[in-house]
Amino acid sequence: MVEADHEDGGYDRNKELKLLDETKAGVKGLVDAGLTKLPKIFVHDNHKVNVSSPSSSSSATNVSIPVIDLGSLHEEANSRHEIVQKVKDAGEKWGFFQVVNHEIPESVLDEMLDGVRKFHEQDAEMKREFYSRDITKRVFYNTNFNFSTSEVNWRDTLYCLLAPGPLDPHQLPSICRDVIIEYLNHLKKLALTLLELLSEALGLEGNYLKDIDCAEGIFMVGNYYPPCPQPELTWGLSSHTDLGFVTILLQDQVGGLQVFHENQWFDITPFPGAFIVNLGDMMQLITNDKFMSAKHRVVAQKVGPRVSVSCSLRQHVQNECGRMYGPIKELVTKENPPIYKEMKMSDLVKLVYTTKLDYDVSSPLKHFRL
Ligand code: OGA
Ligand code: NI
Repeated sequence: MVEADHEDGGYDRNKELKLLDETKAGVKGLVDAGLTKLPKIFVHDNHKVNVSSPSSSSSATNVSIPVIDLGSLHEEANSRHEIVQKVKDAGEKWGFFQVVNHEIPESVLDEMLDGVRKFHEQDAEMKREFYSRDITKRVFYNTNFNFSTSEVNWRDTLYCLLAPGPLDPHQLPSICRDVIIEYLNHLKKLALTLLELLSEALGLEGNYLKDIDCAEGIFMVGNYYPPCPQPELTWGLSSHTDLGFVTILLQDQVGGLQVFHENQWFDITPFPGAFIVNLGDMMQLITNDKFMSAKHRVVAQKVGPRVSVSCSLRQHVQNECGRMYGPIKELVTKENPPIYKEMKMSDLVKLVYTTKLDYDVSSPLKHFRL
């Protein structure tokens, strides 16, 4: 592979990508091979942004995304009202919040992170059979799902479409099968609670978002960020928004996740036992920009591996994505007319998977504006 400091002569990006793909061992395979310089495909043009990350300099690090305690949800009407108010604020101002006291045992969270780590750290031969770029598969793994259209990041990923439709557990990798199933059972309940709170925060009936099928699809992503020898040259995950309605993210204690808020990047410091919840493009679209889908990214680091598990409430490219979505009728008025046209979620999924998107310049939602 061509290293970072080589001359451009003879560098063929597509060939390099193909070579990496053919190893079926991802970034983890490069690290295992003892690589000390980044292959050129990983070096980003805008990498200098990484060096001046706010985490080291500004006072911004003292501000954290809102923390919402779900523990008092069922105690009295008053506390529910307060929680809904906090969700509304967070949805409008950050598009991000953390939830604590969510009733999912910490042991399940630890086992889930451990399961994803074990998947990526298992024998390369076992992992190879899951390596694919066929996005119609329900379960597969690869490095950088969009590497032909986007910059290449220092990360490998396991993808599992857990819902809708019956999932044959045997499709899941045996090394993390049981824990994924257990995690999913808990997560579905949390997802419904969050959709209820979000519905109420929008001034709608509690079951509104569930009834328009926002929880029908669950797309799980198990990210593995190996230690990076030259973290200043690349990203773990470059700036993006999530495309679904809501993402429920679990991160380990390594850190590196940042959110863009009021023109600055903020660290999302790991908080044991907490979930990070962020709203995606579909939520921004159906709320007619009332709730925001915030940009976020993960820095590459010398320390690692870092593991995260994100579950996005969204459908995928399979043909279940028939429903049309547009700004919710109850939320639009003469003064606040619809900004977006009616669309299918699969249109957005296809766009994100096939188009070169630069999130620093615009959001994929611009393609759906009226
Ligand atoms: C994602 C994502 C953040 C993380 O998978 O979309 O933003 O912490 N992950 O890995
Ligand atoms: Ni994301």
